[in-house]
Amino acid sequence: MTTAPRTIVLITGANQGIGFEVAKAIHSVHKDYHILLGSRDAERGVKAAAEIDPTGTSVEPITIDVTDDASIEKAAEQVASNHGRLDVLVNNAGINNEFELFWGAQEKQKNGEAQDEKPNLSQLRQLYREAYEVNLFGAAATTEVFIPLLEKAAASPPRIVFVSSHTGSLAIRTDPSHEMFSKMSRPSFPIYRSSKAALNMLTLHYAAQFKDQGWKVNASCPNLTATNFSHGIGRPASESAVNIVRLATLGADGESGLYSDENGVVPW
Ligand SMILES: NC(=O)c1ccc[n+]([C@@H]2O[C@H](COP(=O)([O-])OP(=O)(O)OC[C@H]3O[C@@H](n4cnc5c(N)ncnc54)[C@H](OP(=O)(O)O)[C@@H]3O)[C@@H](O)[C@H]2O)c1
Repeated sequence: MTTAPRTIVLITGANQGIGFEVAKAIHSVHKDYHILLGSRDAERGVKAAAEIDPTGTSVEPITIDVTDDASIEKAAEQVASNHGRLDVLVNNAGINNEFELFWGAQEKQKNGEAQDEKPNLSQLRQLYREAYEVNLFGAAATTEVFIPLLEKAAASPPRIVFVSSHTGSLAIRTDPSHEMFSKMSRPSFPIYRSSKAALNMLTLHYAAQFKDQGWKVNASCPNLTATNFSHGIGRPASESAVNIVRLATLGADGESGLYSDENGVVPW
């Protein structure tokens, strides 16, 4: 009797927060999955993987910094030599570097201080570059490098999940009657939300590219979640992991090219 090969799933930025909860949930429910727990810091990855699976048989740490091409390529070489393929890629690593700016402006307003008259353009460009490097360029580079391994997937269908955000929705941003309009309007966080809007287009690009091959490529919206990212504000990360896990484990009859949360489809 032959046993089916295990489904190999790589989750970037999984040493903490939502990514960690996705790894934990897949491990507890899908015993036939082998999880590659991505972490940009090797030590943090080893610790997080051992916390979920002390035996080390189903959760394997892998070092991957999505802003570093050599690191992404090294991770792919490691996956190729250890497993020969990848079945599911979850592009979860992400940052929001606008909180300090937002709080600084709020503090000035509270103290009746004048806001800076001239924008600090070098700071602005630096913040855009940092956020886009992780949230957009990082997800794009990681996806490109892992496509050849996804093409060798044993599980059918291969799946890619982009962890996006409701703040990236152009439809919600422009529809005051949408139930999330107010919540997703303030604070505006233009750097973060524009990087996620671009990530949404990337999702549609890959969904179209692999449509005929039956790949499932989707984006998920976690909602405000209490992680280090949000400075502890929001709901438990385990709740935000639910829809990501659903998309990472979709069957052949599952959707592709959609943007969703646990309540259903979110308008682009
Ligand atoms: N929390 C929310 O309210 C919320 C809402 C909507 C969407 N999201 C999205 O959900 C995803 C996960 O966020 P989270 O709340 O879980 O944040 P988090 O707790 O801060 O975790 C983010 C993860 O990304 C990793 N990361 C950051 N830069 C990286 C890089 N260059 N290469 C590889 N990994 C990197 C972090 O690594 P380190 O531990 O080394 O820093 C960490 O593991 C993000 O894409 C975020 O945009 C979050």
